[in-house]
Amino acid sequence: MIQLAPSILSADFSKLAEDVKQIETGGAHLIHVDVMDGHFVPNISFGATVMKSLQGKTQLPFDVHLMIENPDQYLEDFVTDQTEYITVHQEACTHLHRTIQHIKQTGVKAGVSLNPATSLDALDYIIEDVDMVLLMSVNPGFGGQSFIPQIMEKARELAEIKRAEGLDFRIEIDGGVKLDNVIEVVNAGVEIVVAGSAVFKADNIEERTREFIKLIGEV
Ligand code: DX5
Ligand code: ZN
Repeated sequence: MIQLAPSILSADFSKLAEDVKQIETGGAHLIHVDVMDGHFVPNISFGATVMKSLQGKTQLPFDVHLMIENPDQYLEDFVTDQTEYITVHQEACTHLHRTIQHIKQTGVKAGVSLNPATSLDALDYIIEDVDMVLLMSVNPGFGGQSFIPQIMEKARELAEIKRAEGLDFRIEIDGGVKLDNVIEVVNAGVEIVVAGSAVFKADNIEERTREFIKLIGEV
């Protein structure tokens, strides 16, 4: 099943729980939680406290995307009963294998994310250990940027590696996904679609979520 993971980075934080309720009613599968530290990326978003404020306000699982340096130091903060994935950046981890094992030891699924310019080769010796690969389709740091077209081919290549090697990690894409390119994204082999501004900046968040769910369900 193709899953939709709206990113709360573009939500209205003064009514975060209400916005999240709308994506839940609209049929979203996960809540994408974008954590930025002002070092790995040139922006600061929020930390585990904000994520944890949603516990009990929604049943949706958390899909945590750590755009931070030294993620090992903060992993436990993001582990909750509702946390399904914690994803770290390949570019931020000196000892990526150790960090992936660390995430798994907490009982959460482990993801690795690649910036747009990072080759899939970076996954060669880790791919069998990860539950998810997150391909950035914008340079991380901000919502509302345009999809970088070359990442469509990167997704196809990753889907082919997955098929050829018989692996069962999930392929997620993040950045610049809108109603008008989501079908192409899913056709490229993506199984978890992140959408931030396209969902939370809509006049009717619930209705926009439904539109996404309908499109990805038809592919
Ligand atoms: C970018 C974040 C994305 C972002 C997506 O650094 O990782 O999750 O919120 O936002 P849109 O969908 O607006 O590009
Ligand atoms: Zn993200």
